[in-house]
Amino acid sequence: PPPAPEPLTRFGFSEITRGVDDTHHVAPGYRADLLIRWGDPLWSDAPPFDPNAQQAAAQGRQFGYNNDYIGYIPLPLGSNNSEHGLLCVNHEYTNAEVMFPDADQRTAAHVEIEMACNGGSILEIRKHAGRWRIVPDSPYTRRITALDTEIALSGPVAGHARVRTTADPSGTRVIGTLNNCAGGITPWGTYLMAEENFHSYFSGDLDRPSGPTDARADEGSGAHPEKTNYERYGVPAGFFAWGDFQQRFDVNAEPNEANRFGWIVEVDPLDPSAMPVKRTALGRFKHEGAESIVNTDGRLVLYSGDDQRFEYLYRFVTRNPVDPVNRAANRDLLDDGTLAVARFDEDGTLTWLPLIFGHGGLTPENGFHSQADVLIETRRAADLLGATPMDRPEDVEPDPRTGRIYVMLTNNSRRTPEQIDAANPRAENLWGHLLELTPPQGDHTAARFTWDILVQAGDPQDPNVAAQWHPATSANGWFACPDNCAIDPAGGLWIATDQGRGWATASGGADGLWALETAGPGRGIGRMFFRVPVGAELCGPCFTPDGRSLFLAVQHPGTDGTLDYPGFERLSTFADPATRWPDFDPNMPPRPSVLVITKEDGGPIGG
Ligand code: FEO
Ligand code: CA
Ligand code: CA
Ligand code: CA
Repeated sequence: PPPAPEPLTRFGFSEITRGVDDTHHVAPGYRADLLIRWGDPLWSDAPPFDPNAQQAAAQGRQFGYNNDYIGYIPLPLGSNNSEHGLLCVNHEYTNAEVMFPDADQRTAAHVEIEMACNGGSILEIRKHAGRWRIVPDSPYTRRITALDTEIALSGPVAGHARVRTTADPSGTRVIGTLNNCAGGITPWGTYLMAEENFHSYFSGDLDRPSGPTDARADEGSGAHPEKTNYERYGVPAGFFAWGDFQQRFDVNAEPNEANRFGWIVEVDPLDPSAMPVKRTALGRFKHEGAESIVNTDGRLVLYSGDDQRFEYLYRFVTRNPVDPVNRAANRDLLDDGTLAVARFDEDGTLTWLPLIFGHGGLTPENGFHSQADVLIETRRAADLLGATPMDRPEDVEPDPRTGRIYVMLTNNSRRTPEQIDAANPRAENLWGHLLELTPPQGDHTAARFTWDILVQAGDPQDPNVAAQWHPATSANGWFACPDNCAIDPAGGLWIATDQGRGWATASGGADGLWALETAGPGRGIGRMFFRVPVGAELCGPCFTPDGRSLFLAVQHPGTDGTLDYPGFERLSTFADPATRWPDFDPNMPPRPSVLVITKEDGGPIGG
């Protein structure tokens, strides 16, 4: 007989079926074990989770809400240990409606609990007999919150007048980090947390002057001194409105506090006493993440999307090379380097435009007086350079094997036919697309790359969608709204989706995890591996170095778009949520949780 044809994709698992219900589903032959849930105590003497008696002090010692980014650091550092390591998990934001029994009466206590729910958790985990367990009372266990974690500001913005506040006249110490979406792990084993939608937390009015703490208040214009800057970021959005109870989140009472958020935060998980640091050289915007690669010349190159409609893709190149031997020498590596923003041209080239004070109009005539000004107003600086407005840049992942970079563009319902361009080719793009970037000769510091569209997401059978997939993609294999991604140790690309409230129109099924072939004749074939319960999105995908464990963060179960859930045409509440995943206990609300996927036969995932 003739030899069997080569499979078109490296992914041999059987797909699950698109759909939506109150629980999660994983491909046959795989286990999905619960690792940790919102509220689980992180220390043996921390209070047990009681949803009816929540307190900020207790939450600060429990696993936070809305697990997003997950990073795994093998122990010992530098090893490939896939059975013992540190798990770094971001907590992005809160969903009061399903968290609090009295959500309709917002209180100062709610806000403090929410502040304790944001940030991150660091856990030591170990695999015993094929099952992962959290090491109790590990010296590495740590919570980082928006409520009471002291964080240094470093780099060009540290100490600048525009980041000084009543509580911090030095402009070098911020309390807390918030809206920690995706992130990254550096080659020296630090954990990067990306501050994304920081505007949501601030209250106030930019047409009123700021309060008496601001020396500029009597300058006479009557407007807020940061009006132009803040408007470009949507500050104050008033969504979480912590400023109603916490004065520093009121832009009129504390005019500079919002300049202290929107940064990349570096944490050393190996030293729980080390203060986290906001690395201002990487710019201030709604950072989705911060994945990196060591360039051929040893410098570190980080990629970061600014996740909003018509925002930009950024790159940061460190001035100095990574020291692969002396970890301490990398301590402040991220304070010095060049931030650049991407312009995508119709001919398939990408040009990186450096954001450097004094160049390209980043001058006093345009209101920039120093590199600190350029970084505080990164978006306005990028506007002046002519960057390309994108369809919401989410995760950006360099593949260490090929040097190619994958960019998730999640969607952009507001792009008009007049606004389409080669890199954002669909108007009313409800489904998103993926770009593949190629640096010349693998040089991630080059001024010019080339780029290509890998897939245009959405239903390939619907001519109105104009999706682009490999024709061998099954009815389950296409997805909509790529958000997070991960590359497994064999080079396979995995994509987690976030359709938000638009799931019913974007795909008609729940969010989940898909594998996507990127090479060979099957390039562009998607395969559906996992899906989340109703109202959740999927975050975090993170593989151990052996590819045999996959950590997944199920975020906000029972919330987004539950009105469209068949038979459940009402909003979720604490008393009556669309699902009580993962406990299915009538006394427990739905709880964002981390799962770990393993193959029943112990083999690598996806093969
Ligand atoms: Fe927090 Fe861009 O997703
Ligand atoms: Ca995200
Ligand atoms: Ca990622
Ligand atoms: Ca998301």
